[in-house]
Amino acid sequence: MLNEKCEILVHDELAAGYRLLVVKAPEMAPQLVPGQFVHVKVPALEKSALRRPFSVFNAEDGKVYILYKTVGRGTAALNAAKVGETLEIIGPLGHGFPVKCDGAALLVGGGYGVAPLYFLAKRLIASGWKGRLAVFVGGRTKTDLLAVEEFRSLGVELHLATNDGSEGVKGLVTDPLDDEIIKIREAGGKFELFACGPDPMLKAVALRATGTKSKGWISMDRHMICGVGACYACIQKTVRGNSRCCIEGPVFSAEDLVWE
Ligand SMILES: Cc1cc2nc3c(=O)[nH]c(=O)nc-3n(C[C@H](O)[C@H](O)[C@H](O)COP(=O)(O)OP(=O)(O)OC[C@H]3O[C@@H](n4cnc5c(N)ncnc54)[C@H](O)[C@@H]3O)c2cc1C
Ligand code: FES
Repeated sequence: MLNEKCEILVHDELAAGYRLLVVKAPEMAPQLVPGQFVHVKVPALEKSALRRPFSVFNAEDGKVYILYKTVGRGTAALNAAKVGETLEIIGPLGHGFPVKCDGAALLVGGGYGVAPLYFLAKRLIASGWKGRLAVFVGGRTKTDLLAVEEFRSLGVELHLATNDGSEGVKGLVTDPLDDEIIKIREAGGKFELFACGPDPMLKAVALRATGTKSKGWISMDRHMICGVGACYACIQKTVRGNSRCCIEGPVFSAEDLVWE
């Protein structure tokens, strides 16, 4: 784990409420695995020394990419950070996704949850893995469908869904996912599920993994304070008892998760 002072290289608005932050992190970038997160010290919050956790959207050429949504005090304060300024970032943190897959890799993301899935898709391709790679991106409306062009540029199979039908299939992201799961099972194939997004989506994906006796890798989003295992703010119930999302997660095996 490193605590690196990182120069901001890019800090652009991507869509309403969403920003792309790229920092120079030559030591951390090569160590990051998809699904791991970094803990960013937000400059305007320094008196209370508060950090905010973000998944890694990409890490290459000594740079770390973060895709974030402004939801409250910390992310609003982060908006004010300017290109050329320095951010103090701790990472790599937590356990990420396995960068391998037995059967088709079905990646399911909602909102900013697409961030670690894009990094995973890139790393799966770079690893020389030749299986089927299908990405399912969902959102309330088309402006919530993030990283669509980035996924397209990887050449992966892309399925989009919006609640209001403004882009892709009208409905939940699990609708096109279910169609593909049925086709794969009818053909006697195997698949693994990789998911990140809002809790109801994660639960739905995890239950599809356990219900079909397939592997599922679920990235849990829990409120964090310390990010390094000390405060127990980020508890996730598992079959082994309470687990800390920042240490044992954020990526858990679907069969280990206990849903309320
Ligand atoms: C492992 C991990 C990876 C993450 N990756 C990303 C990412 O790639 N991009 C991104 O935009 N965000 C990501 N998040 C969520 C991000 O950390 C929170 O949105 C951020 O900390 C909110 O800070 P804030 O001060 O702006 O909001 P606050 O003022 O603290 O909260 C504003 C609202 O957001 C809710 N909230 C706060 N934290 C979370 C959370 N972790 N999950 C769900 N709701 C929350 C609060 O309950 C409140 O309703 C991740 C969180 C975790 C744990
Ligand atoms: S955030 Fe403190 S233990 Fe996980």
